[in-house]
Parts: sequence; structure tokens; C-alpha cells
Amino acid sequence: MAVSLVILAAGQGSRMLSDLPKVLHPIGATPLVVHAMRAGRALDPERVVVVVGHGGAAVARSVAEEDPEALVVTQEVQLGTANAVAQARGALAGVDGDVIVLYGDTPFIQPDTLVQMQLARAAHDVVVLGFEAVDPGRYGRLVVQDEKLERIVEFKDASEDERAITLCNSGVLCADSALLFDLISEVGNANSSGEYYLTDIVALARGRGLSAGVVSCDEAETLGINTRAELVRAEAAFQKRMRAEALEAGVALLAPETVHFAQDTVIGRDAVVEQFVVFGPGVTVETGAQIRAFSHIEGAHISRGAVVGPYARLRPGAELAEDVRVGNFVEIKNAALGEGAKVNHLSYVGDASVGARANLGAGTVTCNYDGVSKHHTEIGEDAFIGSSTMLVAPVRIGRAALTGSGSVITSDVPDDALALGRSRQETKAGLGKRLMDRLRAVKAAQKKG
Ligand code: UD1
Ligand code: MG
Repeated sequence: MAVSLVILAAGQGSRMLSDLPKVLHPIGATPLVVHAMRAGRALDPERVVVVVGHGGAAVARSVAEEDPEALVVTQEVQLGTANAVAQARGALAGVDGDVIVLYGDTPFIQPDTLVQMQLARAAHDVVVLGFEAVDPGRYGRLVVQDEKLERIVEFKDASEDERAITLCNSGVLCADSALLFDLISEVGNANSSGEYYLTDIVALARGRGLSAGVVSCDEAETLGINTRAELVRAEAAFQKRMRAEALEAGVALLAPETVHFAQDTVIGRDAVVEQFVVFGPGVTVETGAQIRAFSHIEGAHISRGAVVGPYARLRPGAELAEDVRVGNFVEIKNAALGEGAKVNHLSYVGDASVGARANLGAGTVTCNYDGVSKHHTEIGEDAFIGSSTMLVAPVRIGRAALTGSGSVITSDVPDDALALGRSRQETKAGLGKRLMDRLRAVKAAQKKG
């Protein structure tokens, strides 16, 4: 059955004490709201609607970056979760099937849990995701009788007996779209918060003789973020899970606790990741590649047999073919390095393509920026770039061409040519010693005087 997502992300998150809207705070280098979107993607949703409010424009930008087809609707005043979902009504007009409601500040819901919820819809009109809470605190409580969900009661409105219930509401729920909006239109705000509670739709459905059921998940999945301390704890939990998953997938992490992953990091079996490596968003490391210690990598694709680092920085658009070498203190940005190419020391390669087996000597720099625009450098296969060559882009170095060390290359170099762009060396016999002798004599005279 078709399913659409409504992701609630209008709250301010005042307890974060931040100008950044809460749902844009990152875990695994990825905004919280994007975690929710990615969890829902497993269902191949018909439509994705994100309800924004505080910091709406910024949230909308992140949403669009992740999924240009997602719709963003604004909840002007935060009148409660039912009112928030109601804002999505227009955006879902004409779409049949189920709706799953997710929270933008609850990043760990597993895709499989959402699949279970959708399956449970075969037996129930409304399906709620619940969990057994170690400390139920202020969560809404699920009132279950004879294995049927009767209603959800918010902590503030609950009796002593109800507060003793440990089965809690995660906030995630699933129902047929038309039914959901119909039930929501009946929700009132006569409760201790004066808010329109989405949770009230369960009792409303039961009142109509419809059925409601609970799918349970691990409490860790429903973890919500409200404070910076919770964000840090959630990040730690996320990293722990990513490390465990990498090890399970056959990645050789030499010191797992020092490696930091992004939400979408993909690393192949038998890849080696040494100590203190940080992965930003958008990285794929293929089988058998090696990431050496203290490297920082984002937006990069590293092929089989490539070796990166120690102390390397790969920035977005770094594309390393098989057996490439990128050594210490080398930065690569928006550049494709062909099979077996080497950039081993102290170099900057940006906005460039480097042919197979080319060797870039220590200190090679692609001067890609003229202060206004970026320009491209092309280096042919088997080229040899002498140490400390400045390649002033746009420029092309031909296949198997050479540049002399210390050259400033401002015009194209044909295939097989040698280019020298530096002043000719002059050597004056004996002058070195005469110069030093004179300087020492001057200093000695000064000391005496
Ligand atoms: C809600 C549930 C509670 C559940 C808990 C789980 C209701 C009434 N209560 O309570 O049963 O145990 O989540 O964490 O649903 N939001 C909006 N607009 C609003 C209000 C909220 O977009 O007008 C968004 C918030 O940004 C947040 C989410 O909805 O992402 C939940 O809102 P929040 O105020 O945290 O609800 P709780 O009181 O925690
Ligand atoms: Mg909350």
C-alpha cells in the first residue's frame, strides 16, 4: 500500500539554547530532520511533507537539499502535534494510502520498524509505535486493554494508575490518510496543556468502533533530542552503532573508538581504517582501500587499493580511482585522480583531473582560484609534475609531460614535453664562503666596538 510521510519539525527546541533550529543540529554530520527523512525513505514514500515553524526557511533548505521533491508546509503557531499534522492536509490532497507521522527530533527510528508498522496496519486502523521505558518520565502512556490500544494519555493529564504504565508513546503513528485527517478534525484542546494532541486520535478511532494497535521498538530508537547534553549522548550512541556495524561488515577498524562516521558513510569489506579518522557526509570507501591515521574525508569516493593519509584531507568531489596514493598533508577537492596516480606529500589539488599513473611531486599546487572564479587543471596520464610546481589554472599538462621543480606553469604543456617556468640558476664559485667570512667579520667588529 502507498504510504506518505509527515515529519513534524516546527518546534523551537528552546532547551538547546541555540539560534539554529533544533532539527538542524547534526548527528553523524547530518541534520536531525534528515535522519528522520532517511528512515522513512525505506518505505519508498509517495510523498514527504515536512511541517516547519521556527527557523522554517533554514529547515526548508536542508529538506530540499536532501529531497528536492519533499513538500514543506508551515505551522505558524505551535498549537500541538495534531494541529501540526493538520497543516499537511493540503499537501497530501489527492494522495491515497497511509500516512506515517515522524518527529524531526527523533533520529534513530529504524527503517525496519516503520515497515513493521505498515504491516501492522493490516490488522489495525491506527498503529502507534510504543516502547517499554526504563524511566517513563513525561512520555505519553499507552493504555492497553485485552491487547487492544484504548487511548493515549499525556503525562500531564494522567492519573496515578496511568502514570504507573511503562509502555510509552514514541510519537510515531500510522493510519489511512483520509481517516487521519478526519480524526484530527475532531481533536479538541481541552487538556492541561491547552494543546491539540495528535495522541487523541486513538480514543476517537476507538469511539468509532475502529481498532488501534501497538508496534513496539527498542527504547534507543525513540530517543528524542531536547538539550545539547542529549545531543552529545545521542552522537556517542550513533557512533557506537556505526562502529559496530562497520566491524560486522568486515571493515578493519584499528581503533574503532577514535573513528567518527557520518550517517551515510559506506565502507567496504577489508578496507582498513586507522586511528583518528573522521568521515564527513558522502563518503564511499571501497573494499581493500586503506585510510591511514588522522585523515579527514568528506564527499569522496575511494576505490579499491587506494591509500589515503596519514594526515590527508579529501573534500567534496574527490574521486580516487584504484591504487591511487594520497599522502601526508595533501588536500584534494573536486578532483578525479586516475588509476595509480600519486600525490604523496604537501600538495593541493583542486578542480582538477589527473591521469592514470601521473606523479605529482611534493608541494604541487593547482592554483585554481583567481579571486573571483575557479578554474580547471588537467594533468595527462603518466605526467610527472616536479616538486613545488604551481599550476596556474586554467591549464593543461599533456600526457607523459614533465614540469621542472619550482616551475610556475601558466600555459598548456603538450604531450611528452618538458616545461620549465623558473629563473635560470647562476652559480658563482667561491662567493658563498667570501660572503659568510665578510658577515662574520662585521659581527666580530660590532662586538668589540
Ligand atoms: C509527544 C507526544 C507524547 C510522546 C512524546 C514522545 C503528543 C500530544 N504527545 O509529546 O505522547 O510520548 O511526544 O517524544 O503528541 N511539534 C510541532 N508543532 C507543534 C507541537 C509539536 O511541529 O505544535 C513537533 C515538535 O517540534 C516535535 C514533535 O512535534 O518534533 C513533538 O512535540 P513535543 O512538544 O516534543 O511533544 P511531547 O510533549 O514531547
Ligand atoms: Mg518532546
